Amino acid sequence: MRILAFESTCDETAVSVVEDGRKILSDEICSQAQLHAIYGGVVPEEAARCHIEAISLLAQKAIDTAGISRSDIDAVAVSYAPGLIGAVLVGVNFAKSCALALNVPLIPVHHIRGHIAANYLAFPELEPPFLCLAISGGNTLLVEVKDYTVMNILGSTRDDAAGECFDKTARVLGLPYPGGKPIDELSKGGNPERYVFPVSNMDSNPYDMSFSGLKTAVINLVHNSEQKGEMIDRRDLAASFTKAVSDSLVPRTIRAAKDFGYKKLVIAGGVAANSTIRADFKTAAEENGLELFIPPLRLCGDNGSMIGAQAYYEHLAGVRAGTDLNAYASMNINGEF
Ligand code: KG4
Repeated sequence: MRILAFESTCDETAVSVVEDGRKILSDEICSQAQLHAIYGGVVPEEAARCHIEAISLLAQKAIDTAGISRSDIDAVAVSYAPGLIGAVLVGVNFAKSCALALNVPLIPVHHIRGHIAANYLAFPELEPPFLCLAISGGNTLLVEVKDYTVMNILGSTRDDAAGECFDKTARVLGLPYPGGKPIDELSKGGNPERYVFPVSNMDSNPYDMSFSGLKTAVINLVHNSEQKGEMIDRRDLAASFTKAVSDSLVPRTIRAAKDFGYKKLVIAGGVAANSTIRADFKTAAEENGLELFIPPLRLCGDNGSMIGAQAYYEHLAGVRAGTDLNAYASMNINGEF
C-alpha cells in the first residue's frame, strides 16, 4: 500500500511516499529554519505562508522521486495535530484536496505517533509492545506503545518541552535557532560538572517531567554573570545544561521500563538527535539489559515519512477521515483534548 504523507505542523513542509508503513519511496523536506532564525524562533504566520508556497511543488516532487504516478497512490495521510494551527491547516487542507481528487482514503495521524513510527522505518524488526520516550520541540512524553495504535501515556512534561529548553538556552547563549544542534556541537569537550542545574522530580507522578526551572536557571546564570562582568565558559555551560536534560530523561525512562516490565526501549523526536542523550541511553540500556532503538539523525526531526509509516497502521486499524477533518493546535496522543 502506497501512502502519500504530509507533515506541516511547525517549520518543515514535508511530503513522502511510504510503502506498507516500512519502506520510504521518497522523502522531500523544505525547511524554513533559516527564515525563522532571523527572529530567533518560529513565526507562526510566516510558517503557514511558507507551507502554502512549498506544499504543491513538494507533493509533485515526492511523487516523481518515488517513481510512481498519481494513480499509484492508495491513500493520503496528514499530520493533523498538535502544532501551530495555521501551519497544520495548510497540510490538512492540501491533503484533503489530494484525497478527494485521487478518490482515495484520507488518514489523520497524530504528529507524535508519527515520531514514534519513524522507528519502524529505521528498524524493520521493531514491533510493539515497547516503551517510548518522545522528545521534540513541542512535546515530551513517556508512552507505553501497547500496539501500533494503542498507547498509554505514563508521563509528560508539565511545562516546556525538552526541545524548547534547548532552543531557549541556545538563544541566551547567542546561538542560532533551532538551538539543539548548535548546543550539541558546543557541548563537545565541555565539562558537564562545571555548572550544577536543577533536575526536577514530581511527587505525584514519577514519570512526569519539568524543564521550565532548568530553563530559568540557565537564563539567570547567564544574566547574573553578565551583570557582574564574570566570564562564562560556554562550552562547559552547554555540557552542564545537556547533562541536566539527560539526567531528567534517562533515569526516569529506565525506571519506567523496569516498573512496567518493558525490554524494548524506543526514543523518538528531534531531541533524540542529541549525541549526549543518545550515548547516555546506550550506556543505560546496556547496563539494564534493554534493547534500545533510536532513529538515525535524519529520521529524528520532522519528516513526512514518519507520518506515512504511522498512517499505514492507522489504516489497518480502520482510521479514516472525511473532508470535515479539522486541524488542532493541541491534542494528546490518544486524541484527547
Ligand atoms: O521533532 P522536531 O523536529 O520538531 C517537533 O516535532 O517539535 O524537534 C525539533 C527540536 C528543536 O527544539 C531542536 O532544537 C531539537 O529538536 N534538536 C536537538 C538536536 N537537534 C534538534 N536538540 C538537542 N540536540 C540536537 N542535536
